[in-house]
Parts: sequence; C-alpha cells; structure tokens
Amino acid sequence: MTEPDRDHSPTASPAPSRPGTTIELERVTKVYGAGALAVQALSPISVTLAPGQAVSVVGPSGCGKSTLMRLIAGLEAPSSGTIRVGGRPVAGPLEDLGIVFQRDLLLDWRDVLGNVLLPAEIKGLAPAAARRRAAGLLAELGVERFAGHYPWQLSGGMRQRVAIARALLPSPTLMFLDEPFSALDAMTRDQMNVLLQQVQSAEHVTTLLITHSILEAVFVADRVLVMSGRPGTLLDDIAVDFPRPRRLSLRETPEFSAIVRRIREQFVRTGDLVG
Ligand SMILES: Nc1ncnc2c1ncn2[C@@H]1O[C@H](COP(=O)(O)OP(=O)(O)OP(=O)(O)O)[C@@H](O)[C@H]1O
Ligand SMILES: [Mg+2]
Repeated sequence: MTEPDRDHSPTASPAPSRPGTTIELERVTKVYGAGALAVQALSPISVTLAPGQAVSVVGPSGCGKSTLMRLIAGLEAPSSGTIRVGGRPVAGPLEDLGIVFQRDLLLDWRDVLGNVLLPAEIKGLAPAAARRRAAGLLAELGVERFAGHYPWQLSGGMRQRVAIARALLPSPTLMFLDEPFSALDAMTRDQMNVLLQQVQSAEHVTTLLITHSILEAVFVADRVLVMSGRPGTLLDDIAVDFPRPRRLSLRETPEFSAIVRRIREQFVRTGDLVG
C-alpha cells in the first residue's frame, strides 16, 4: 500500500532550473598528524567551481584527491584556509550532496528500489513522490528492470548505477564521485562514462568526479583540475567545452587528444608519469 504524499514534506522531484551552488576554496591546506609523523596532504589550493559544472579532478595516487573531496563535503576540516559552499562556510557534513564511492556500499538485505529509497527514509521525504523519483532515476540509469533484485544479483556496473540513483534521489545540487568506476572492466567503464555525462546534464547537478583516468576525466567534464603529487596542489585547470551529449568517438578526435596530451605532459614534467 502506498502512503499519500504529505504536503509539508520536502519534495523529491528534480528542479532543473534551480540556481545551483558555488563552491569556493581559498588557500585550503590539509596536514594529517603532527610533528615528525605529519603528512602534508594538500598545499594551498584556491579554486571556484560554478553551479552546474561537471568538474573532474585527476592526479597521481596519494596526491590528496579524496582529501580534497572530503574537505569540501564537510567530512573533515581543513588545516587552514576557507571553503564556502553556496556562500556559506562549510561547518559540517553537507546536506545537499550525494556521494558515490568506489565501493558502492549498497545494503545487501534491501532490493534495488529499497536501496535507492534509503535517503528518502533518512530525510523523511514524501514516500509516493520519492517512489516516483526512484522509478524515474532507475529508468534514466537503465536499471528499471532490476528494481526488485538484490545487490548481490547485479554486476559491478549495475551496482554503481544503483549507487548513483541513490545519491541523486533527494535531487541534491551537488554530487561527488570518488573513483566510482575504478573497479569496473574497461568496456563497462566506458559505458558508465557515457551514462554519467547524460545523467549529469539531465539532473543539472554540480559534479565533482575524482579519477585516475585522464580519458575519463576529460570525457565527462566541463573542466578538469590537474593535481600534482603530494603535497597536492593545482597544476592546471582546463576548460573542456565539447558539446553534449558526448559519444565515445569523441575520444578519437584531435581536439580531445590534445587535452589528454596536455594533462599527460604535466605528469611527465612532475615525474608522476613516465613519458
Ligand atoms: N585520515 C588520514 N590520516 C593520515 N593520513 C592520511 C589520512 N587520509 C589521507 N592521508 C594521507 O594524505 C595523503 C593524501 O591522501 P588521499 O587519500 O587524499 O589521496 P588520493 O589522491 O585520494 O589517493 P588515491 O588516488 O590513492 O585514492 C596520503 O599521503 C595519505 O596517506
Ligand atoms: Mg583517493
């Protein structure tokens, strides 16, 4: 039996024309530990991300990509500098944010629909509207036929589609993804890249994608931030303005290759990649 929508509940329907949220970092640093054991994870980073932008962060292992994401998400505090989201200093975990990790963290005892609806239960969203939203997202992500399946019955790529649907259920203005496709085979990963940029456009969500893959970073993004090895800082900031929707054949164009080459050359110069 479905419960009626309550008028006073927050709604779970997308709002494509909303103004979005600006993310501003001003001389942000992060040091873990103290004294001889101190690890400087990030040296000063200043950058502003525009509302609705799809931003990729690419950099060598251990350069502080996940740290940067956790700081913006309000899961950890910077050692110095300020982070503002929507004009307000970040003082704790952001509410208006969906996060997707490399491990999908789906609950094995809930079916796909039950997993996608989890944020609705936590946030107390109107159940009928949440179910409509969930059905729409599962269709958008191409897994509507699996609503009644359990996570252990799905492939890795399908599980990540469900994880993305769950992150988007409350229609957050921000979505952060930390190496969401790293455990997938190359073909599935390519497919997920196409899907992610479709969903990003459809949902008008400001996206921060952390990845080791230069191809992936460029394919899905409006902008690529290139980070140096530890302590991580910004080496480059590249606008990627290929029209959307994008097809995989874009990766074979000289324009695309030029951006990939520019990023590779940065890593060769810093010694993070053998040329
Ligand atoms: N909680 C922590 N305590 C101590 N050191 C940490 C902590 N988290 C990260 N670090 C250190 O900070 C540096 C940056 O880590 P981070 O996980 O942000 O890198 P990353 O770029 O995401 O790496 P990878 O690509 O391997 O995921 C690393 O040297 C790491 O060991
Ligand atoms: Mg990481």
